[in-house]
Amino acid sequence: MPEPTLPTIFERSQPGRRSARLPAPDVPERPLDDLLPAELRRADAPGLPELAEPELVRHFTALSHRNFAIDIGFYPLGSCTMKHNPRINERTAALPGFRWLHPLQRPERAQGMLQLMWELGEMLAEVAGLSATTLQPAAGAHGELTGLLIARAYHTERGEDGTRRKVLIPDSAHGTNPATVTIAGYEVVRLGQNADGGVDLDDLRAKADASTACLMLTNPSTIGLFERDIVEVARIVHEAGGLLYYDGANLNPIMGICRPGDMGFDIVHFNLHKSFSTPHGGGGPGAGAVAVTDRLEPYLPRPVVARDGDRYLLDDDRPRSIGKIRSFYGNAGVAVRAYTYMRTLGPDGLREVSENAVLNANYLRSRLRGAYELPFDRTCMHEFVLSARELKRRHGVRALDVAKRLMDFGFHPPTIYFPLVIEEALMIEPTETEAIETLDAFAEAMLQIVAEAGEDPARLQNAPWSTPVRRLDEARAVKEPRLRATATPEPMAAPTS
Ligand SMILES: Cc1ncc(COP(=O)(O)O)c(C=O)c1O
Repeated sequence: MPEPTLPTIFERSQPGRRSARLPAPDVPERPLDDLLPAELRRADAPGLPELAEPELVRHFTALSHRNFAIDIGFYPLGSCTMKHNPRINERTAALPGFRWLHPLQRPERAQGMLQLMWELGEMLAEVAGLSATTLQPAAGAHGELTGLLIARAYHTERGEDGTRRKVLIPDSAHGTNPATVTIAGYEVVRLGQNADGGVDLDDLRAKADASTACLMLTNPSTIGLFERDIVEVARIVHEAGGLLYYDGANLNPIMGICRPGDMGFDIVHFNLHKSFSTPHGGGGPGAGAVAVTDRLEPYLPRPVVARDGDRYLLDDDRPRSIGKIRSFYGNAGVAVRAYTYMRTLGPDGLREVSENAVLNANYLRSRLRGAYELPFDRTCMHEFVLSARELKRRHGVRALDVAKRLMDFGFHPPTIYFPLVIEEALMIEPTETEAIETLDAFAEAMLQIVAEAGEDPARLQNAPWSTPVRRLDEARAVKEPRLRATATPEPMAAPTS
């Protein structure tokens, strides 16, 4: 087991140690005052840690060993699609022509990147069953906002922005959906769920009317179930004059099998950093590309990557666009990774990804069925939700305890307490990149946990036992974050004038 506390980088610091030696300047040195006015310069040295390279490398390597990652073990975090990121994606993203391309480079000197972006847009449109795309949004939630602003621009042009103020979302929706609705200036209207885990059609009929701007839905739902009534859902919303927004974070089980556009959706966002295998989590850059139907194409953020014969350009002449929603053109490195993923797999490979994601989830679901409650006991898509309600009632063991104990077995916990509509929820998404041995080992651990709950609940209630830190005070960590550490309090630079 690693030691419980590691010295901070400041505690490791020794005056005068260095990891790099800079060469002597080969241009004449100029007085500092010529370079930066005195009033803009700090009075004291910034108090940076001083380490030689071996200590520096050891420090960060030791820290990395305390983390969990998909490259270390199974990571069945429901709704997050923590699949393996093929290394070839990294190699292409690191090609100098992509890596060193400056975002202000003139389009005629960036033809390769523009071609890649254009082709990626076309491929995504094909997967979505829609006509046009933007790669600008930086994450799924940002794609949601872009999509709702597009919906709003559409209703505004039709003179209906004043009346269509409501966005319908199901009770089980991901938290970013209601947040996006509010940020886009709309009002959330909650939709009930039927006994099958789908949209309650009677509730939808009662609520879809001339005040409806949009319905936001993910299919499969956050419970991992395919919305069987989707065609009827689309008909009701369109008949009321509203648009349909598809939260594509759950696209992984349907790629190449069915398309949101064919189901009736008008706007789709993709989480390229999930479905199309680029690293995510921990705040790294993502990409929330958005695809739309023909009639919504004029509102896409500008500029749009366009093709003129065999040349590619950035079309900024788009008077009906919602404007720019991000600096430059999106997280280009993520686009290169997603493009590589799609091109290496091809259409058949992409379909196989989805089939295996569904197969793996159903295999695990069958192995755990009976030991845990399955609130919706039907064939799932890429993920499924168990409930620890019975364990809690009988042994006082909660979903949180199950999750913490899994860490002792070397697994990342599944998502817990989401979706909110399921008590003591454990949401498991194995993804397609896991082998059967891994799924079996996880299933065995989950079954052992049920046995332990009966024999020794305290073992679960106090887990994990093998991690460098045990149970953290998560609420306090959020309320009193300590994000900065220095060896000695760093004096603020006083203005010198
Ligand atoms: C269903 C669903 N929608 C939207 C999002 C938001 O995506 P992002 O985290 O990239 O903003 C997520 C993320 O987990 C999700 O699972």
